[in-house]
Amino acid sequence: MSRKGAAARASAARVVDGVRSNGRSLDAALGSVDTDDEAFVRMLAYGTLRMHFRLEDRRRQLLDRPIRSRDSVIAALIDVGLFQLSDTRVPDHAAIAETVEAAKRLGKPRLAGLVNAVLRRAQRETSAPDSLEARFNHPTWIVERLQSDWPDDWQQILAANDARAPMWLRINTRQTTLDSYKAMLDEAGYENQRHAALPQALRLAAPVPVSRLPGFANGLVSVQDGGAQIAAPWCLGGGAARMLDACAAPGGKSAHLKELADPDDALICIDVDERRAGVIRETFDRLQLEATIAVADASETKGWWDGRPFDAILLDAPCSASGVIRRHPDIKLLRRATDIAALARVQATLLGSLWQTLKPGGRLLYVTCSVFKDENERVVDAFLDATPDATENDLLQNNNIRDVMRRQARGYQVLPGTDGMDGFYFACLEKAT
Ligand SMILES: C[S@@+](CC[C@H](N)C(=O)[O-])C[C@H]1O[C@@H](n2cnc3c(N)ncnc32)[C@H](O)[C@@H]1O
Repeated sequence: MSRKGAAARASAARVVDGVRSNGRSLDAALGSVDTDDEAFVRMLAYGTLRMHFRLEDRRRQLLDRPIRSRDSVIAALIDVGLFQLSDTRVPDHAAIAETVEAAKRLGKPRLAGLVNAVLRRAQRETSAPDSLEARFNHPTWIVERLQSDWPDDWQQILAANDARAPMWLRINTRQTTLDSYKAMLDEAGYENQRHAALPQALRLAAPVPVSRLPGFANGLVSVQDGGAQIAAPWCLGGGAARMLDACAAPGGKSAHLKELADPDDALICIDVDERRAGVIRETFDRLQLEATIAVADASETKGWWDGRPFDAILLDAPCSASGVIRRHPDIKLLRRATDIAALARVQATLLGSLWQTLKPGGRLLYVTCSVFKDENERVVDAFLDATPDATENDLLQNNNIRDVMRRQARGYQVLPGTDGMDGFYFACLEKAT
C-alpha cells in the first residue's frame, strides 16, 4: 500500500464532496487540491461524478443505514471506491486497500471499517439499478427534457454524455498548415486524424498534455472541440472587416475567428467575467494574435459600444451547457430544471441588444453548447417573429458539415458524440440591407 495512493483517493473524495455538498464546480474544486498525482485524482473525480447517479444508488443498496451528512466526504470516498471497482482497471485489492486507508487521511479513521465492508460487499454482490436516475445515470429532469426534445435520440445523447470526450486540436493557420502540423504529430508518435468538414482540426486518438504538443507554447496549436470549430468560419462566411465576439471568454472561438480573418480585420472581444476575460488575453498572446478585449455586459450596449456597427457578430451565449456534459459531468449535479427558463431570457435579451449593433447586411451567428430546444430554436424563433429585419440564412459552408448537423425548425444542432464532437446549436441570422 502506498501513501501516495491513499492520498490521491482522499483528494478525489474531497473534490467530489466539494461539488456534491458545497455546489462547487468540478474545475474549481480540482483547482484547490494539492496533489503529486494530479492526473489520477482528476480521473477518479471526473469518473466518480460522471457515474454519480449510478454509484449513489449502489452505495445506498450496500449500506444498512445512510451516511450522516456531516460525514458526506466518506460517502464520496465510498463512491470513489465503487467507481474504481466498476469502471477502472485498478486491481480490486489496491482499490479497496488504498480507499480504506484514505478514510484515515480524511480524519475519519472510525469509518475506515465501514468503507472496507461496503467495498468488499460490492466486490461479492451484483445488483440492478433501483431508480430511473440510476438506470439512466442522469437527473430525472434532464432525462425527461431530452425525451421530450429528442424522442428518437435521447438514449444516444445520455450515452454520449457518459462517455469520455476525445481531445481535438485546432491548428493556427496563421503560423503553420494542417499538413505540416499533422506531420509533426505523426513524427512525435501521437496518432491523429482529420475531419472532412473541419479544415483546421485534428482529433487525437489519446489525450496528450498540452506541454508535449509540438509548438504549443509558441502558438502553433490550440485545444478546441471539433463542434466548437464550426462557429468561426460560419460567422466569417459573409465577409467581415469589423467583428464582435460578444461572450468571448476563454477565447477559443475568438482566436479561431482571428486566425481565419484577414490580419487587418478588427475583432472586439467582450466578456462580463473579468477573470475569464483575462484568459482571452493570455490565449491571444500565446497565439500571437491581436484583439480589443473588454470586460462588459454585452446586453448593456451603452456601456461599451462606440456606435460603429459590426459586419459579423458571434453570440456564443451563456447556456445550460447540456451539450458538453461529457466534459463537465458536474453539470448533471449543479444545474436545475428551473435554470433553463432564466437562461432563455438572458439569451433573448443578448440577442435583442446585440442586433442593434449589427450592420444592415451583416450576420450574427447564435451559438449555444446546449441540446435543449428552449435555449436554441425557440429563442431564435421568438426573435425572428419579433424582428422584422432579421432572417435565418440556412446555407451551410459545405456538405461535409451537413453530415454532422441536424436541421431544426430554426438553426442546426450537432448532437454530443456525433463524430466525437460536443453538442452545439447554431443559427445564422442576417440583417436586411
Ligand atoms: C459559452 S461561454 C463562451 C465560450 C467562448 N466563446 C469560447 O469559445 O471560448 C459564455 C461566456 O459568456 C459570458 N457571459 C455571460 N453573460 C454575459 C453578458 N451579459 N455579457 C458578456 N458576456 C457574458 C460568460 O462569462 C462566459 O464566459
